[in-house]
Amino acid sequence: MRVGVLGTGEVGRPLASRFIADGHDVRLGSRSADNPTGAAWASDQGERADHGTFADAADGVDLLVNATPGTVSLEVLATIPDADLDGAVLLDVANPLDFTDGFPPTLSLANTTSLGEEIQRAHPTARVVKALNTVHNSVMVEPDRVPGHHHLFVCGNDDAAKALVREILAVWGWRPEDRIIDLGDITNARATEMLLALWVRLYGTLGSPDFNLAVLR
Ligand SMILES: NC(=O)c1ccc[n+]([C@@H]2O[C@H](COP(=O)([O-])OP(=O)(O)OC[C@H]3O[C@@H](n4cnc5c(N)ncnc54)[C@H](OP(=O)(O)O)[C@@H]3O)[C@@H](O)[C@H]2O)c1
Repeated sequence: MRVGVLGTGEVGRPLASRFIADGHDVRLGSRSADNPTGAAWASDQGERADHGTFADAADGVDLLVNATPGTVSLEVLATIPDADLDGAVLLDVANPLDFTDGFPPTLSLANTTSLGEEIQRAHPTARVVKALNTVHNSVMVEPDRVPGHHHLFVCGNDDAAKALVREILAVWGWRPEDRIIDLGDITNARATEMLLALWVRLYGTLGSPDFNLAVLR
């Protein structure tokens, strides 16, 4: 599979590296084609890894991952030609965290909308799937860092797109049968993004990002 990852940060790089480890071809995207972080990552990862602009990263991919700060994600996606987003499976792991007033951050979109929804609204023919935004990047690609039974939430309007994302997550250890909860359409992104108010406080209290939420019933 050809995968584009938007964002060279502490989420984009580990996800991109995991896709490489799984045998996919990956292009990491940033604001400039000569971004040193992107270049260093690509040279470290070998011949199936590449880097470029956000638009380069989205060019002709089977899966596009949004791993940019949620406050700029819409701006980043606006730099990508419509043709590359048309029908694309767009896995959105971002959160609209606003650190303007320091820590803990607020959400720049909430209650009656969400980043996932706004991305879907801005790019109606993209197939947006919201997932992974409620766990730390280390847990995203290695759920067994957290012992016991815990859950990941997925939502989006397109069932085939969600099935593709579930397949990828299963390879990483997010078993579809007992670790994934499909909440339904993309409006449910407002619920998972609003969990961040709790997540950032748990991180502060527990002092480690290796935790997750479990839904018991
Ligand atoms: N940290 C976690 O474990 C975690 C867990 C779950 C979800 N998330 C979410 O995942 C997303 C990525 O997190 P991160 O920590 O990797 O973010 P980050 O390090 O802040 O993101 C860096 C990327 O964002 C781009 N960027 C920064 N400012 C920009 C601007 N004004 N315009 C366009 N692009 C800009 C940078 O571009 P350049 O490459 O050009 O510098 C870089 O590629 C966030 O939405 C975060 O909330 C994070």
